[in-house]
Amino acid sequence: MGPAHSSHDAIRRAGRGAYSFWLNSLYFSTVDGSDPNSNNRSYTAMLSPSAKDMELDLEAEGRAVDWSTPARSFRCAVVGLGNRGLGLAQLARRFSGVEIAWLVDQSKERVAEAIKLFGRSAKGAMDPTAALVDPTVDIVFVTVPDYLHRGVAEAAFRAGKHVFLEKPLATTASDAAAILAAWRQSGRILQLGYVLRQAPFYAAIRAAVRKGMLGPERVVALTEQLDVRHGATFMRRWHAQSSHSGGLLVHKACHDLDLICWLLEARPRAVSSFGGLDTFAGPPPATSCSRCNRRATCPYVDTGLHERRTAAELMDPALYGLDRCVFRMDKDIVDNQVVSFVLDTGVRGTFCLAVQGPVRSERRITIIGDRARLDGVFEDGRFTVTFTDPEREPFLWSIEGQSQGGHGGGDHVTMLDFLNACAGRAQAPVTSAEDAMRGLIFALAAERARREEVVVRLDKGDFAVPFSPTVEAVRDEPLRTATP
Ligand SMILES: NC(=O)c1ccc[n+]([C@@H]2O[C@H](COP(=O)([O-])OP(=O)(O)OC[C@H]3O[C@@H](n4cnc5c(N)ncnc54)[C@H](O)[C@@H]3O)[C@@H](O)[C@H]2O)c1
Repeated sequence: MGPAHSSHDAIRRAGRGAYSFWLNSLYFSTVDGSDPNSNNRSYTAMLSPSAKDMELDLEAEGRAVDWSTPARSFRCAVVGLGNRGLGLAQLARRFSGVEIAWLVDQSKERVAEAIKLFGRSAKGAMDPTAALVDPTVDIVFVTVPDYLHRGVAEAAFRAGKHVFLEKPLATTASDAAAILAAWRQSGRILQLGYVLRQAPFYAAIRAAVRKGMLGPERVVALTEQLDVRHGATFMRRWHAQSSHSGGLLVHKACHDLDLICWLLEARPRAVSSFGGLDTFAGPPPATSCSRCNRRATCPYVDTGLHERRTAAELMDPALYGLDRCVFRMDKDIVDNQVVSFVLDTGVRGTFCLAVQGPVRSERRITIIGDRARLDGVFEDGRFTVTFTDPEREPFLWSIEGQSQGGHGGGDHVTMLDFLNACAGRAQAPVTSAEDAMRGLIFALAAERARREEVVVRLDKGDFAVPFSPTVEAVRDEPLRTATP
């Protein structure tokens, strides 16, 4: 066959033996352009041994892969009805026997619109207390801004609920420790929103690593580059102040730092970092985006694409602070940051976060080991493993072109795992408390390293609770609100 792993469009149009192996199907064209369905030839496809190695056996890992209606419906409260809260609630109610019982948000308009969406059987409130003490509620989704996670999650655990807590766990180590202590006391399920772990792309990379395909791993490099229009929204919203988000790295890249540890089954030993605010620096041309006279030419203009808005907010975008100029002076986050680190297994690596760049956001990953190098792009749904042994064919993994749902399919699998864990059918969710803390501590250590231009050592740290030496390394800082 011709050029390895072509796009489906190239297979259809160019032909010439181009092929693609996608999930468990082979798509191919013939070398002479004849139709393989009618040219009277027969074809045999053989899976290379490395492809067989890669089969994922989720059930063997103790995870239930199906859902069946629970004997009694799960009643859920959603606290925080922004993009994520509504998205998770819509996803949850697609599972039979899961009801949305309470919709809570500080904004009256958001509550009212959510009730229209979910139906009048859901109660609305602007304060979570009534929902949390409702004895008929089983599950609480915590989807308020990051700095508010602790208050809602602690109260939910105290009330004996299972909690789906969005990432990051918290914005400080002490808030995170308090949440985990409340969770331990409750005996309930905690699912953290590290949904990328559950995306088939990263699950397959982990399988490749676990099967020793790459050999002892030596170096890892991850990049998260956000489409600048998406990046600009962080400068406009609550995320722009580290007292609310923990900083862009904590808020956005706790996913990636968690993935590094999870894929390589390791913990960070020492971390350094550099970063700054460059693209979104300088005097703001206006305070309000909608009334700015540079609106027609500003590349960062508010398009409304990245946040859900109520009818009232569409009329007046200032209602939820979405009309702020991205050059506002009160922000203290960076727009680019580089982290370099060594893990306790000796693997060295880098992570780059940038909110500048072309319209497509991209997460890239390279892992280099003695036996092979793995390169992938999450948004392409595809990675390759190129072996050191020149005789060995490269291995290609792809779910290219197949719609996976939110976060590359991770949202659905995470919800399935969580609900099954709540139903007592599966082992605990794949993110343990120690893991949840590890990703946050990694990000907080990088933030401290950036601010102080030091190397932060975590080698004495115990990532479980209590974890005092680690807490010392990432001690809660007085959070800045001044212009950098
Ligand atoms: N897992 C992921 O990949 C992922 C993706 C997006 C967001 N998130 C996380 O989800 C959470 C929500 O993010 P978002 O983008 O939906 O933010 P958002 O600003 O769109 O929504 C937050 C909502 O919380 C409400 N709120 C604020 N204070 C409140 C309070 N005291 N009580 C009740 N409601 C309150 C706001 O009115 C708003 O409706 C954050 O923690 C974020 O980090 C995770």
